[in-house]
Amino acid sequence: MADQAELAEEIKQLKEERNAVILAHNYQLPEIQDIADFLGDSLDLSRQAAATEAEVIIFCGVHFMAQTAKLLSPGKTVLMPDPSAGCPMADMITPESLREFRQPYPDAPVVSYVNTTAEVKAESDICCTSSNAVRVVESLEPQTILFTPDANLGEWVQEQLPDKEIIIYPGHCYVHVHIRPEMIQELKQEHPQALVVAHPECIKEVRDMADVVTSTGGMIRFARESEARQIIVGTEQGLCYPLRQENPEKAFYEIKAALCPNMKKTTLAKLAACLREMSGEITIPPDVAEQARASVERMVAVS
Ligand code: 13P
Ligand code: SF4
Repeated sequence: MADQAELAEEIKQLKEERNAVILAHNYQLPEIQDIADFLGDSLDLSRQAAATEAEVIIFCGVHFMAQTAKLLSPGKTVLMPDPSAGCPMADMITPESLREFRQPYPDAPVVSYVNTTAEVKAESDICCTSSNAVRVVESLEPQTILFTPDANLGEWVQEQLPDKEIIIYPGHCYVHVHIRPEMIQELKQEHPQALVVAHPECIKEVRDMADVVTSTGGMIRFARESEARQIIVGTEQGLCYPLRQENPEKAFYEIKAALCPNMKKTTLAKLAACLREMSGEITIPPDVAEQARASVERMVAVS
């Protein structure tokens, strides 16, 4: 078996030969983050996918993120080193369950979190990420808005926009829901000076304990700009890697229980094989892609 350094060398060479760019989410394994051309949250990565001049996008993240990249860059080849890396939250809603959910509210627009399949995006009016959810909902004229599939993000948006009536689909991220208030409390007791950041996918009791509720990209910016020397990180533990890399003088305390196995499926060996074999291509049926793209592009326009 090739060692990590050899694989990294092969990936760099193949990347040049294929005219490929490597995009990686902030929760990816450290060795994947180290070799990526761009690292970011869902919104940053969609922007990179839309702007790249490379012919091939290698997406190191989960399936809905690679699909979003394909929607925004339909002329490019989008590959995933392990296309089985999914997001259980995205699987909690289907076009059928969305139709049933919206049936009692025929005039209310549907805002869907990007953590959905292209089929669900195609039946939504506009998408959002955790970075722009408040802005997206605020941009819509009707007072009543349907929000899918993350109930915690929907509830958090409702708290920010009390004048809207947000009808929320009952989905969740099991990784963030596992973050319990007692876990934050214990870390706060051990590190009384530490500030707390939490992802909006966390339950309300955890969000209420946080100094800042934001996306993973927002947490990176907060850590960079804040005077705080110690931060409790209320999201998937992989985010602590880029935080520590960028701020070696600061301490970051992770929640050990918060681990997304799908985000760890991408390895250097799979990344090298994907570039070698040009495997793991993301394709979306054209009729679905056209409608799903419209939802994503509306979101990009609002952001
Ligand atoms: P971000 O867009 O904040 O990185 O979130 C993506 C995600 O899947 C969180 O669980
Ligand atoms: Fe999906 Fe949660 Fe994993 Fe994010 S952390 S990819 S929402 S399961």
